[in-house]
Amino acid sequence: MKVRILRQNSPEDQPHWETFDYNGPEDASVAAVLDYINYNDDIETDEGKKTSRIIWDCSCLQGICGACAIVINGRPALACETFIRDLKEDVLVLRPLRKFPVIRDLMVDRSSIQENLKKSGMFIGEYSGSDEREHDHQYSVSKCLKCGLCLEVCPNYINGKTFFGAAFANDCYVVASRNSAKSDEIRKTYAEHFGSGCSKSLSCMDVCPMKIQTIASIAKMNRMKSRNRKSE
Ligand code: SF4
Ligand code: FES
Repeated sequence: MKVRILRQNSPEDQPHWETFDYNGPEDASVAAVLDYINYNDDIETDEGKKTSRIIWDCSCLQGICGACAIVINGRPALACETFIRDLKEDVLVLRPLRKFPVIRDLMVDRSSIQENLKKSGMFIGEYSGSDEREHDHQYSVSKCLKCGLCLEVCPNYINGKTFFGAAFANDCYVVASRNSAKSDEIRKTYAEHFGSGCSKSLSCMDVCPMKIQTIASIAKMNRMKSRNRKSE
């Protein structure tokens, strides 16, 4: 199998494509394909040109850290959870996520996701208890990996400077539903950095590896707003 990879030596460099031959097991994950190509110190392209090892991010290799999020044959996905036997195409094409600055090759800097949460005060602080009926969704949302796959496909997310995207919206719901004292403040920041920019394409839900129902978080945030209006 041919493996085409969009490479970039440093954040300032121009990206370029390199193609490799993969002759390993057919049931490998994309992460295993990258490991296979990187096996030797000096690796070669399919034309025999010596090149450096491919840089990519990973930690758990079991779909729980989110580090290996890349674009695989045009679809954003986790490299450790995507298997080449399931691909429709004969060629494997890998590129880094486009909404974050590239550090090198397939590795990007996703720190803006955490920074936006930090600067919006997105931590529970004092737990005020919550309606038992919320627990299932709170648990499901808390599985968010902050992988950034949802931001790759979001038509409204550009670079995280004003619109913060689905991962942020889900965290808003968790904090607002668990700390009633912070609820007003969170609804305000939610409106500013998510509510006013989301066009409800919901493409985020198509690619989320944890199957998080962001639409439910949106509905619950809206419900909190109307509940608070009634009590005013
Ligand atoms: S909402 Fe899903 S796709 Fe988005 S960061 Fe969280 S786990 Fe990743
Ligand atoms: S390496 Fe952790 S999710 Fe893939």
